[in-house]
Amino acid sequence: MSTGRAAVITGIGSYVPPDLVTNDDLSRHLDTSDDWIRTRTGISERYFVPPGIATSDLAVEAGLRALKSAGDERVGAVVLATTTPDQPCPATAPQVAARLGLGQVPAFDVAAVCSGFLYGLASAAGLIAAGVADSVLLIAADAFTTIINPEDRTTAVIFADGAGAVVLRAGSPDEPGAIGPLVLGSDGELSHLIEVPAGGSRQRSARRSAEPEEYFFRMVGRETYRRAVETMTSTSLEAAERAGWRLEDVDRFAAHQANARILEAVAKRLGLPEERQLSNIARVGNTGAASIPLLLAHSAAAGQLVPGHRVLLTAFGGGLSWGAGSVVWPDVQAV
Ligand code: UT7
Repeated sequence: MSTGRAAVITGIGSYVPPDLVTNDDLSRHLDTSDDWIRTRTGISERYFVPPGIATSDLAVEAGLRALKSAGDERVGAVVLATTTPDQPCPATAPQVAARLGLGQVPAFDVAAVCSGFLYGLASAAGLIAAGVADSVLLIAADAFTTIINPEDRTTAVIFADGAGAVVLRAGSPDEPGAIGPLVLGSDGELSHLIEVPAGGSRQRSARRSAEPEEYFFRMVGRETYRRAVETMTSTSLEAAERAGWRLEDVDRFAAHQANARILEAVAKRLGLPEERQLSNIARVGNTGAASIPLLLAHSAAAGQLVPGHRVLLTAFGGGLSWGAGSVVWPDVQAV
């Protein structure tokens, strides 16, 4: 039940780990090339976690920056969207909250793979609307390379690591930064298109040890590509309509950075010209749940996203899961 309190962005921060990996670096041990990766995905370089660094480490860094950006050291709840929790149990968010010195606040993880940030926004907005918290730190972080098979050229060249975070506070739906109506969906009949087959209760209850490669991420690329284009297009249209926007009103399109060709195809179908599309995939790759907040933070820092811009957000990923939403960009400094 909504109490009419909107969730309003008051701060944004991001973090990428230190290890920069170029296409040429990958081509040294994989049967691939800089040309193939650039042409097929739009990626030039990305960042990987060094040994020993986990999702919570990325999340804490991004969380600190978002809190600094919001000029606030305290929030009433922490939501962590991630595909790669530090451990299967417990959730990673409580440890992140504790390391950020936020005390015994409600804290939990959201598992929606590349749609995690948008599902996280819905969760954070729900906490605010329900009166559980007046402000929420939403972090989206993935140490995605920890589940990637470094020998699998179809995924190893795409996925990368990073984190982005926003602080949301209770406010009014018509003020800048208020999260507009969110459209979310899923299709579990297609869960096999993106999966890590082993490591969960299905495999464990069968009392069999899995093959080593079953612990790695798998993606049926071509089919996922086709569905990503269709679904991000239709969901974006629905979110714009629910916000009361015509597509001409959209100043910036911030889509999950899955693959530059997917993003071009979606923008083309929506009739959004190149100058209105935000993109950082060339520099960071596909960072899973972290992708959208990283994109927003990088674009704001680069001056490509400014206060007053009407931003349409969309994502698609494992589950399958997808989502879209809208926000009028607030006057916040990306840290
Ligand atoms: O973020 C969550 C959602 N994820 C996505 O939305 C990603 C969706 N999928 C994709 O982005 C693309 O499907 C990929 C980038 C994964 C693959 O691109 P593609 O244009 O769909 O290539 P393909 O899978 O159709 O493969 C074309 C060829 C194949 O060779 P043959 O069978 O034509 O001889 C592949 O074996 O390219 C080959 N190939 C590669 N070659 C060099 C696949 N990966 C590589 C590689 N380097 N890294």
